[in-house]
Amino acid sequence: MHDQAGHEWWRSAVFYQLYPRSFQDANGDGIGDLEGIIRRLDYLNDGTPRSLGIDAIWLSPTFPSPMKDFGYDVSDYRGVDPAFGDMAAMERLIAEAHRRGIRILLDYVPNHTSDQHPWFIDSRSSRDAAHRDWYVWRDPPPGGGFPNNWVSAFGGPAWTFDEHTGQYYLHSFLREQPDLNWRNPEVESAMHDVLRFWLDRGIDGFRIDVMGMVVKHPDLADNPPNPEWTPGHSTYRQFLWTNNRNYPDVFETVRGIRRVFDAYDERMAVAEVFGTPAEIANYYGGEKLDGLHLAFNFQFIHESDLRGGFTPWDARTIHRLIESSERDLPPGAQPCWAFGNHDRPRFISRHNSDGRGDERGRAAALLLLGLRGTPFVYYGDEIGMVDNTAIPEERRQDPARYHSIWRDPARTPMQWDASPGRGFSRAEPWLPFGPADISVAAQDHDPDSMLSLYRDATWARRNEPALREGTLELLAANDLTVAFIRRAAEGRAVLVAVNTSAGVASLPMPAPGRVIIATERTLDRSLAGSLLRLPPFSAAWVALE
Ligand code: GLC
Repeated sequence: MHDQAGHEWWRSAVFYQLYPRSFQDANGDGIGDLEGIIRRLDYLNDGTPRSLGIDAIWLSPTFPSPMKDFGYDVSDYRGVDPAFGDMAAMERLIAEAHRRGIRILLDYVPNHTSDQHPWFIDSRSSRDAAHRDWYVWRDPPPGGGFPNNWVSAFGGPAWTFDEHTGQYYLHSFLREQPDLNWRNPEVESAMHDVLRFWLDRGIDGFRIDVMGMVVKHPDLADNPPNPEWTPGHSTYRQFLWTNNRNYPDVFETVRGIRRVFDAYDERMAVAEVFGTPAEIANYYGGEKLDGLHLAFNFQFIHESDLRGGFTPWDARTIHRLIESSERDLPPGAQPCWAFGNHDRPRFISRHNSDGRGDERGRAAALLLLGLRGTPFVYYGDEIGMVDNTAIPEERRQDPARYHSIWRDPARTPMQWDASPGRGFSRAEPWLPFGPADISVAAQDHDPDSMLSLYRDATWARRNEPALREGTLELLAANDLTVAFIRRAAEGRAVLVAVNTSAGVASLPMPAPGRVIIATERTLDRSLAGSLLRLPPFSAAWVALE
């Protein structure tokens, strides 16, 4: 579990989430692939500050899939979808990444398979099938209707009636994504074998999809209504997901998964979970830390996905979110932060109602990489990509668009240059590109670009123990700025300060210091006085004496 310095590598690593369909197309079909990723590895980390300097990548699903939910409907957990390449390409990717010191996480989807997975094909073939009980089947209730009131995350009932065998099956997402029954020990053991299959091939770990839904209430009891829901709003929020998400029985299953990892050196898992730090503490295993290594805190995206709306970029809110994370995770549990992902609008687009999203995006880079914890950067955020919401109806892809959310705008291909194919593909891309002026090529040599800011920050973080592994001490909350001190054991300390307001904010310096990085060149780099003057929407890292 430990690197040469005796630390678990993922504690100081910067992760990069890469959506394989949208990163680099090597074979000219308009869809990104593994060969393309290999060609771009030097961009991610070539060992010098000319590269982005990330330590690990998480690949959204690469397994064979009918692609109803773009890979989150897996029909074979032990292969590579032909759209992305083959096993040889995956092995080459692992080797090439490792040669550069980049680790690789795959996306483990344990809650459901595709309806085309052989297990489900057998399961639905008859009530006596060997795999019948690998999924969740229920009789129609005597009075008609569905077996319970659960809804699919993508809208509509979570149950589909199967004419052939006369029962309903459960699907928490699309009807083409039937839920596995993890209460069946055969399922658990087969899914553990899937982890071992990849860990044996040198994969460094997994991001685990909707970990908190894998084990539900034993009687599949109805969910209570959500008091905040009003008719006309997404049915996703109509009920509280009390009996099918974060249900206490799931934590034993989490421990079982952890035990699989513990048989290997230096591997890890990060769980997609929803909740406050107090709610997600159990995924770490509570005080014993015998759960997963990391669990995402999504509260910078939304404080509750059942309430709707996004978290504002506001000093007091940010202060409160950091405070609860520091307070409510068990000792030794490390926070894990993402400001965006393939399921939500991009950061800049979420914070751009006044046209200042780009500036907030720069400050967010220094916050994300300055926080205590493991940061995940969503591909393209490092060049300030924005949502492409102008995708014409006939080119929209996301199946969820009919119901609750529409995720295509944040999944458009990476923009390498301003050419018609953006350096991504010579074919028509699977989703239309965003504006041509946002690209790697345009920013590569500009020291003031978003890309340069990210590069400077990842490399500064790598070289500064206070940022990499220091403690976090919040300064008093105020309306304009959020600030904290990261302090390493040897006494090194760095102040991270963010001005979320549209005016200049002055922050009393806790000690004399020197600016390491700032989002604004105008920020005074000498800091002789006792005030740090932060321009509107700016952020800075200041080494304290
Ligand atoms: C997770 C994934 C999302 C997917 C869903 C079903 O939330 O991030 O993309 O649609 O699970 O697997």
